[in-house]
Amino acid sequence: TPHSCLSISPSSLSVDIQGLQRQIEELSSFSDSPAPTVTRILYSEKDVLARRYIKSLMAQAGLSVREDSIGNIFGRWIGTEAALPAVATGSHIDAIPYSGKYDGIIGVLGAIEAINVLKRTDLQPKRSLEVIMFTSEEPTRFGISCLGSRLLAGSEELAHALKQVVDGQNITFLEAAQSAGYAIHQEDLTSIFLRKDDYFSFVELHIEQGPILENEGVPIGIVTAIAAPASITVDFEGNGGHAGAVLMPSRNDAGLAAAELALAVEKHAMDSGSLDTVGTVGVLELHPGAINSIPSKAHIEIDTRDIDEERRNIVVNEIHQSAIRIAEKRGVKLSKFKIVNQDPPALSSNQIISTMEDAAKQLNLSYNLMISRAYHDSLFMARITPMGMIFIPCYKGYSHKPEEYTSPENIVNGVKMLALTMANLSSE
Ligand code: GLV
Ligand code: MN
Ligand code: MN
Ligand code: MN
Repeated sequence: TPHSCLSISPSSLSVDIQGLQRQIEELSSFSDSPAPTVTRILYSEKDVLARRYIKSLMAQAGLSVREDSIGNIFGRWIGTEAALPAVATGSHIDAIPYSGKYDGIIGVLGAIEAINVLKRTDLQPKRSLEVIMFTSEEPTRFGISCLGSRLLAGSEELAHALKQVVDGQNITFLEAAQSAGYAIHQEDLTSIFLRKDDYFSFVELHIEQGPILENEGVPIGIVTAIAAPASITVDFEGNGGHAGAVLMPSRNDAGLAAAELALAVEKHAMDSGSLDTVGTVGVLELHPGAINSIPSKAHIEIDTRDIDEERRNIVVNEIHQSAIRIAEKRGVKLSKFKIVNQDPPALSSNQIISTMEDAAKQLNLSYNLMISRAYHDSLFMARITPMGMIFIPCYKGYSHKPEEYTSPENIVNGVKMLALTMANLSSE
């Protein structure tokens, strides 16, 4: 095989799991909601503190640390052939409201530990090894998923959108970034783009966020493809009015239009012909939000995904048709139907898949080849470099809720897999 020339032996890999678990606990304390929940929103005070902590860990690991103007953080171990494209890894540390300690975190703290593991061997990497902490993988604040990696991968559309986008408090992206200490200006946004030859490969370590590995007792997942996500925001507007005085036939209730659309999302996802289609309404806001006032405005946010992009696009279109029909039927205005993103799926690189398979075999770990139904920064890194992902099992497949958990054993396996995969890629 092309990977037979091994740079290090698997038995020389030792993970400081106690230290890593302490770091996971410490990072989880930078949260805007009480333990055990974690809430860490882009450019909040807690996010700024967490970022400082990550940079300090990168520096302690002896990495040279660079931060771009929106706060993507890069820690590099410079290789003996420093001019060659680097082998990168990384993930995110932002956390959706009331979530857990592991989503994204394992791919950042675990990656820094993977570097420490390799530094404890006598490896001198040929290609540089780099850990990336991506800004805002989660769409919570500005509605844009994988914001940092999407921009790094050269999205002109995003660079443009970021000039105007605001959060729920009407704070612009640029103001929010500036308040977190990033002196970003509109003109700079495209300067963040990476070039296709900056990296030799990108590998992300992540919890599975689904139940398959745990159910089957398999310690490692090797991701072959990432499903195609889309998100949509919709606003309905009606006349509102007094909940006692306006009789039922004279109402045009924006809230009921939103409720009906939420049910239509469920139906379109379920009627697609495949269990791989999912649709979720995770945000539904009513205005003015008073028990005795008919909702005059409703805002909903829709997430729909599939491993098949065409089928996903059919569902997006059906949701649009339903929104138009419901607005007509209920006499409300469909004041916004905005497809925020409609991303294609990504395929892992065959070469990286086989490097990961070799690593699993060297470590005597069984593995499944599998699809990622969640999205990740890897979806966008795949646009500029060959990509691969390593999954570890998580308790009952729980994620995006506080019960999220993965065991120390799983973490050790994942960190070793990542270390060995990166070492092998760096020697190519
Ligand atoms: C990312 O967190 C996702 O929703 O897949
Ligand atoms: Mn997530
Ligand atoms: Mn994640
Ligand atoms: Mn994700």
